[in-house]
Amino acid sequence: MKIIQLTDPHLVPNGSLLRGIDPQARLRACLAEIEAHHLDAQALVVSGDVTDLADRASYELFRDVVDEFSLPPLYVTVGNHDRRSVFGAVFPQHLAPDGYAHKRFDLGDHVGLLLDTWTMGTHAGAFDRVRLDWLSARLAEGHQPVLMFMHHAPVRVGLKRLDHIALQNEDEFWEAIAPFKSRIRHMFFGHMHRNVAGSWRGVPFTVAAGLTHQVMLDFQTEIVRHVEVEPYFSVILVNSRDVVVHPHAIRDAKIIDIAPDATRPSRAL
Ligand SMILES: [Fe+2]
Ligand SMILES: [Fe+2]
Repeated sequence: MKIIQLTDPHLVPNGSLLRGIDPQARLRACLAEIEAHHLDAQALVVSGDVTDLADRASYELFRDVVDEFSLPPLYVTVGNHDRRSVFGAVFPQHLAPDGYAHKRFDLGDHVGLLLDTWTMGTHAGAFDRVRLDWLSARLAEGHQPVLMFMHHAPVRVGLKRLDHIALQNEDEFWEAIAPFKSRIRHMFFGHMHRNVAGSWRGVPFTVAAGLTHQVMLDFQTEIVRHVEVEPYFSVILVNSRDVVVHPHAIRDAKIIDIAPDATRPSRAL
């Protein structure tokens, strides 16, 4: 099974730039590649910060750009740069009946859980009691292995500003999922604008860098220092035994094909 995670598009209104880069062009480049090479994916998960300033024009732009492409089934949640009410006005299909941008979706012999960590008035994330109860109830349904997607991560990564705006109620989140830990195969986050991987309380996780600027690896600074790099999305491969995550950068790189030479012994790359 293949899943695509695309995160932090940070769209701005048509014709404008985000600190010198063009999020719309980056989104189009990623979607074109997903359409060309990953239509076999079971899901395309967009893990928040759909827009940079939560304006309606940027959500409508995201909707219109996405509609131009043939894509795997799309699941979208919100990040701290979003506003759930504006998001929901443009994407009512991505809000649950309780008003949150969370969803349980079928992945064959797996279950996908897309969570909503958005909290009014802060760049940090949190789950209120409604969302924690929703999560516990969804985890209690069935016995399939679970792949979990959300914007904010509960893990601290050593980058001061990012750790300051991480998921705030880590312990409550853990209490909700701990009874089901053996079924949670992997967690996928956004928000950090860096590729990061590891495990949190024994659960493997991956953070996808996303479409726009990346946060510099600087363990000293209290501010967020950005660096302009190419847009990333993740190609996730899952079978009954293993989970593999390929962070994939879109760039105009020269492709060097090395054809097998039957007259020479094969060499390692
Ligand atoms: Fe972001
Ligand atoms: Fe974020």
